[in-house]
Formats: sequence, structure tokens, C-alpha cells
Amino acid sequence: MKGLRVAIDGPAGAGKSTIARRVAEALGLLYVDTGAMYRGITWVALQKGIDPADAAALANLARAVHVELRPEKDGVRVWIDGQDITPFLRDPGVSRAVPAVSGVPAVRMRMMELQKDLARRGGVVMDGRDIGTAIMPDAEVKVFLTASLEERAKRRVKELRGYGHRIDPDQVGRELAERDRADAAREFSPLVKAPDARVIDTTGRDVESVVEEVLTLCRTRLLKGEE
Ligand code: CDP
Repeated sequence: MKGLRVAIDGPAGAGKSTIARRVAEALGLLYVDTGAMYRGITWVALQKGIDPADAAALANLARAVHVELRPEKDGVRVWIDGQDITPFLRDPGVSRAVPAVSGVPAVRMRMMELQKDLARRGGVVMDGRDIGTAIMPDAEVKVFLTASLEERAKRRVKELRGYGHRIDPDQVGRELAERDRADAAREFSPLVKAPDARVIDTTGRDVESVVEEVLTLCRTRLLKGEE
């Protein structure tokens, strides 16, 4: 399994990061959370008072910052310019601004470059929106994870409450739907299912059974490769 590349894409709140991390752990592969990279740069932009609509300022920022993903026991941590900013990645303000920031071509090009470098080494499980189409189009295993909007909103409400945020469930649902719309509508590497991705609808399913399904795909793919 050492060189295996697994691409996991899908809409907001479909459970990509939970599944991707578990699959990576089970197979001893590196887990790369590309959403965390876009969230990280968005948080820095907001800290610096950059307007998420200011593409030129965001492009300059993307060129100037040093983004690093550090895998640790409790998950991947994001360091930007020597600061661990992981605790801020799920802030509602970051979630609202991230589609605008990630839609700026220069920001994407910079992040995609870093992601392609990580992918080139092989032995990765990477999750995001354009992994099976743009970052690892030749990945051995491609999965497109979905779930009903209602279920995705329910999971996100639970997650945000766990972080201590006060939230309105209806607003969470509206914001997830709006983020999907923006991610799918952008011109440059949008959220789209790769033609050869396996669609897994996780509505009403537990994490364990989805992880098992992805692991089975990985094993089947490896057996085929050895024929
Ligand atoms: O966890 P959740 O599904 O809410 O989102 P995420 O994976 O953390 O991604 C946050 C945002 O980053 C997305 O809504 C996209 O705007 C952007 N993103 C992207 O454009 N391309 C990726 N490969 C990953 C994330």
C-alpha cells in the first residue's frame, strides 16, 4: 500500500476529513487535508484585514506566506509563518470567507503547487474538492463522498457545538448550501466529481462502514494492479 494515492472529494460537511484520516491511519499513509490549507490562508487574510473580494491582495499574500501541514497524533495541524493556527480553522467567519479566497486563481495555483508536491511522493490520502480531477487525476483510488444537505448540516451543528460555538442550525444549512454553490460555480478547478470516482452517499451510515468501503476499494485496486 506504500505508494497508493487516494483522492477523496465532495461537498461541505460530507465527512471527508473524518473518513480520509481513518483510511490514512489504517493504511499507514500520509493524510493531507487541503481544505485546512485554504482555511488557513483565509484566516491569515482576515487577521490582516484583507477583504476576501480583493484578489490582488490575496494573490500577494498567497505568494508571501509559508504554509505547512504537520501530521500529529490528533490530526493534521496547519502552521503558517511559524504559528500553529489549527484552532481557528473552523471559525464561522473563516467558513464564510473561504470560498471567495479559494476561488482566486493565484491562491489556488500556490496551494495546488504545494498539494501536487505532496502527491508526487505517493502514499497519500488527500481530501478536498478538486483532488481527483486536478491534483491527482491519476490516483489509484477516487471517492466522491456525499450526504443529504440535512444530514451534513446536522453533523456540522454537532461539530461546531463541540468547539463551543453558539449556532443556529438553519443558518448552518444555508451556509453549507451556499458554500457548495460557490465551490461548484468557480471557473478554476471547481468542486466536481471525477468521472472515474466511486460515489459514496454517507446519509444514515456510520463512519466505520464508510471507512470499510473505502478500504475495500483500496485493496481491490491493489490486487488489480498486481495482476
Ligand atoms: O470540512 P468542509 O467540508 O466544511 O470544508 P473543507 O474541506 O475544510 O474546505 C473548506 C473550503 O476550502 C471549501 O468550501 C472550498 O472553498 C475550499 N477548498 C477548495 O477550494 N479546494 C480544495 N481542494 C479544498 C477546499
